Amino acid sequence: MPFFSLRRGDDAARPLVVGTPLKSMAKPILIWPDKVLQRPTAKVTDFGPALDTLLAEMTESLREAEGIGIAANQIGISLRLAWVGRPDGTFFEIVNPELLETSEPVTYEEGCLSVPGEFEDTPRFRKVKVRYQDRSGTWQTLEAEDRLAHVLQHEIDHLNGTVFVSHLSSLKRELIRKKMLKLQKTGSDEHAHPHRGHDHAHHGHDHSHHHEDHGRDDD
Ligand code: CO
Repeated sequence: MPFFSLRRGDDAARPLVVGTPLKSMAKPILIWPDKVLQRPTAKVTDFGPALDTLLAEMTESLREAEGIGIAANQIGISLRLAWVGRPDGTFFEIVNPELLETSEPVTYEEGCLSVPGEFEDTPRFRKVKVRYQDRSGTWQTLEAEDRLAHVLQHEIDHLNGTVFVSHLSSLKRELIRKKMLKLQKTGSDEHAHPHRGHDHAHHGHDHSHHHEDHGRDDD
């Protein structure tokens, strides 16, 4: 098995159904290069009910988009928290996360709900150690590898105001920027279907990629 889907449910290579009308009140996901996505988020200091409400809102958008992670600034809230998908399909929240250690540089094919339809090989680390607070404010330390490490790096990047395209060559980044600006201009219909892309859609453990497998997902 050279790769597996990083979509929730881990249903590798099954075509993503796109264009499904939104059924919930999920907040739309901002498309890069939206400025909110490029600004570092503010530390969460209030661990009260407002945080639970925000986490619930983020869950709605994440579910609609069928992503495996979402950062608060992707729905326009510039706060340092995100949902992270585990390989078993469950999710946990990370609040005020910090990347403590990274090791074993690796290249993963990566995508983002905020950069729909684009997938590029991106330099990452196979292993990470992170520290974060849970929704009650309790600090947790986690050592992760492979897919979970990948998602953590992607989401912490978001919270630092960085999208995966920042790790690409300027040529590739500019091509993607032009596509995204065009996508934004085509109107609200595109915005209404943020699940035209899926976060971290494919993940090449052995660096062999199957571009043909996801090309049609985004049409
Ligand atoms: Co993303």
